[in-house]
Amino acid sequence: MNSQPHETGKRSVPAHVAIIMDGNGRWAQARGLDRSEGHVEGVNTVRRITEIASELGVRYLTLYAFSTENWNRPQQEVATLMHLIGIAIERETPDLIKNNVRLTMIGDVERMPAEALERLRGCMARTAHCTGLTLNLALSYSSRWELTDAARRMAADAAAGKLNPDEVDEQTVSRYLTTASMPDPDLLIRTGGDVRVSNFLLWQIAYSELYFTQTYWPDFSKDDFRKAVMQFGSRERRFGLTGEQVRGGEISDSADR
Ligand code: FPP
Repeated sequence: MNSQPHETGKRSVPAHVAIIMDGNGRWAQARGLDRSEGHVEGVNTVRRITEIASELGVRYLTLYAFSTENWNRPQQEVATLMHLIGIAIERETPDLIKNNVRLTMIGDVERMPAEALERLRGCMARTAHCTGLTLNLALSYSSRWELTDAARRMAADAAAGKLNPDEVDEQTVSRYLTTASMPDPDLLIRTGGDVRVSNFLLWQIAYSELYFTQTYWPDFSKDDFRKAVMQFGSRERRFGLTGEQVRGGEISDSADR
């Protein structure tokens, strides 16, 4: 899907929204609560935002649920988060099926505790037939891990004679990424006030529209999501073309610089 021409100009609903869900810890600390309470509340936001994304007709929603770097957090917090993710996914599976939502995941998931992984894989299997929104969880994910892994597999395929190095182009690289079956994100949202991309989908967000908000993830509402989507709809995406070319309807699959 990444090899499709870019859709220039204005599009009201993004096909793929990626979200860096930040601010759970600060949300909890501001209330004198344990950080894990922020993650519990963050799960409710995941449910809310999945609902609204589905209602609006978003095709893919990728959530940065746990980064490679998050493994270095205090063991207790990591354990709580893993448990929470597994429990929440199992609990929500019937509703995901009812709402025609398919669960997928990207990342170095073999590092996850067996219990959480089993629940996630169970949900993936039970929602595999769903044809509405794809809820894609980035778990034990970082872009540098993904790009390194892709480079390693490309080198191995080249050594085995399955890949011709002279024929490697951008589409080839995209095919080796964990997101090979999805379009690149049209919109990247980050909650929690920081203005950075934190090793998330670095290749895939080359032309994404970026939206940053101060709102902590547990407070991020359906209306906040609608607002981000509306702002996305008002932006003109040029992919390196001029505004006149875009408004004249010229579309190019090579004009990506
Ligand atoms: C960042 O907040 C958030 C995380 C590291 C975890 C996000 C995970 C969830 C909301 C649970 C996801 C659940 C499912 C079912 C997908 P932070 O702890 O870094 O907050 P801070 O910046 O305020 O410290």
